[in-house]
Amino acid sequence: MLPRGPDTPPNSPPPGPSEDGVALSEAEIAVHWREEERYPPPPAFVAQANLTDPTVTERFSEPHFPECFGAFGELLTWDRRWRQVLDASNPPFYRWFVGGLLNASANCLDRHLAKFGSKPAFLFVPEPESEPTTALTYEELHARVNETASVLRTDVGLRAGDRVTIHLPMTPELPVTMLACARLGVVHSVVFGGFSGEAAGRRAADSGSRVLVTMDGYYRNGRLLDHRSLADATVESARREGQTIDTVLVWQRHPDRYLSASPPVPGRDRLFADLLRGRRGTRVPPVPMPAEAPLFLMYTSGTTGRPKGCQHATGGYLAYVAATARWILDLRPSDVYWCLADIGWITGHSYLVYGPLALAATSVLYEGVPTFPDAGRPWRIAERLGVNIFHTSPTAIRQLRRLGPEAPAQHRLRFKAMTTVGEPIEPEAWRWYYTSVGRGAAVVTDTWWQTETGGFLCSTKPALDPMKPGSTGPALPGIYPVIMDENGREIPAGANRAGNLCIRNPWPGLMSTIWGDPERFKRIYFEKYNRRPESKDWRDWPYFAGDGAVQSADGYYRILGRVDDVINVAGHRLGAKEIESACLTVPEIAEAAVVPVADELRGRVPELYVTLRPGIVARPEIERKVVRAVETEIGKIARPRAVRFVSDMPKTRSGKIMRRVLAAISNTLEVGDVSTLANPEVVEQIRAQVRGASPGPARPPPDDLREFGTTE
Ligand code: PRX
Repeated sequence: MLPRGPDTPPNSPPPGPSEDGVALSEAEIAVHWREEERYPPPPAFVAQANLTDPTVTERFSEPHFPECFGAFGELLTWDRRWRQVLDASNPPFYRWFVGGLLNASANCLDRHLAKFGSKPAFLFVPEPESEPTTALTYEELHARVNETASVLRTDVGLRAGDRVTIHLPMTPELPVTMLACARLGVVHSVVFGGFSGEAAGRRAADSGSRVLVTMDGYYRNGRLLDHRSLADATVESARREGQTIDTVLVWQRHPDRYLSASPPVPGRDRLFADLLRGRRGTRVPPVPMPAEAPLFLMYTSGTTGRPKGCQHATGGYLAYVAATARWILDLRPSDVYWCLADIGWITGHSYLVYGPLALAATSVLYEGVPTFPDAGRPWRIAERLGVNIFHTSPTAIRQLRRLGPEAPAQHRLRFKAMTTVGEPIEPEAWRWYYTSVGRGAAVVTDTWWQTETGGFLCSTKPALDPMKPGSTGPALPGIYPVIMDENGREIPAGANRAGNLCIRNPWPGLMSTIWGDPERFKRIYFEKYNRRPESKDWRDWPYFAGDGAVQSADGYYRILGRVDDVINVAGHRLGAKEIESACLTVPEIAEAAVVPVADELRGRVPELYVTLRPGIVARPEIERKVVRAVETEIGKIARPRAVRFVSDMPKTRSGKIMRRVLAAISNTLEVGDVSTLANPEVVEQIRAQVRGASPGPARPPPDDLREFGTTE
């Protein structure tokens, strides 16, 4: 079940039973809330905002759908204009801007050259403070993208439609490589730089990439990391899945040095520095691509072990991120914008690369962690570079607040707009962000969306709607959400009752499909609330987002967290099955179950329960092996807070592990009725063991949360 809203009478029935065997979801361990105060948009912001027309919601209302989205398409430059805004004849597979031809790199670069050629596209800030910031103008970026595209086409033989896996840190080479691919119509699949080689290899195999792009090393948290060494594991893990990577292209963090301890592999690895020699000034014409051609794949965790390659289309995606960056981030060419998200996640793709570049903005690109070498770093950078739009996650906000609550006050900050994204933000953290970072003069947008959705779906319209701490806001113009209960009934709008957040209509940023698996796409996102599988009407195909939410009377949505087997760690999605599969690579482990635990800084952290094979006795070395396996298979981001050895797992009669019960124990919540389990007696044993072993979760849930774990 989901938590109840503040207005739900205590004895009213829960909104619906949760699915059998599904973990006690994130939504169920959501923090308690009350109705928060509202803050009007600062007048100085309103006076200059991009979106001030209050009729926008009406203009994008259902009677005007889908033609209203034509305005988004108008923001782009087309080689051939579209014939039809939306082809919805085969739901849930939608085609936007049908008949249109365009190139994403030309839209992000070429069309800006005449007016903004000498303006920085990126201000690259290396993590070491001793290294200077470098500006990369639109002209320079255009030149580098062309030269790189020439290498990809001529030396590597890549053509439109081919896939390339990019495993790079946060340096200019990452957007350069992405745009070089886009220029050729090559589909890029960027894997977060912090992911392990194994994780990158599995994704490369799924996408069918024969080319991997990597870098020798980079700086993170004061250390120089050897990144190139991961490539061998990537190639090997792709090979195990039947995919040959024949070419590894290596950028160098410092052009005159090779930082990695592992030397290039002859015949396979090639240094960009060598390939680019003699290519100065080379131009590669942008390839006009059909609007629905895939621009990129972005893998995200799902409920099964296999990550899903979310396939985003060139026209719809680019139009959607350009329009939403303009309206919600209030971005324009004269701004200096800083998005702290890594480009390896969707936020970086949409709101650090494609959205800002489509609008000819200037963006800060920062290599390292925000708190290095201290929590004043972001404010020093923002002051020095004159950043006026700032975009980050609740995890970063919580960390910066904890380590340096007074640090923003020591700098001349002049933010007009600030964004938070990725997880629910506690009202306390929100207020610090608004008051101490924004000085009450900046508007704060809390944007809710997902890898699958391409761009923002819910947020306040910054000049039009008041802000409410902890709530994302109403839906964006043209987005029609609905909250459903488990039985497929709509929860009335504004009822303050928890349920599953869905979007009734398609929109241009929605992914086209899961790479290579359209059936899975249909099943995961659309089957749950589809009553007429044969229907060709989009109204029968609501998009199931997998998040619990409540809508209050003012129309604002409050996101409660995931309702499926996905754990949102510090704003990053990790699949429970993926973590469990990693544990099972340790030979001593018989079964593994991972659960989300509330954490003061990171929102949620994974905690592991494992049983051992017969005859094996628990010992610290096995725990270390489990942690190492998770780090090797996925990356440090998935590192569990604790590994708990148990004699048996709580199971249903059909043998399914009840993560819900384990999650309740880890979060010191009531486990509720366990009499239907096959082995109810283990619950008490595990609880006693966990209680004895640790002081409980980092943030003890308040009393009113204790009911949340009580029913199935
Ligand atoms: O649970 C929601 C949470 O992040 C999930 C999407 O994760 P990902 O695909 O990695 O994209 C992250 C960046 C868009 C959602 O299902 N989430 C995202 N934004 C918010 C949020 N939870 C609460 N408030 C938000 N603003």
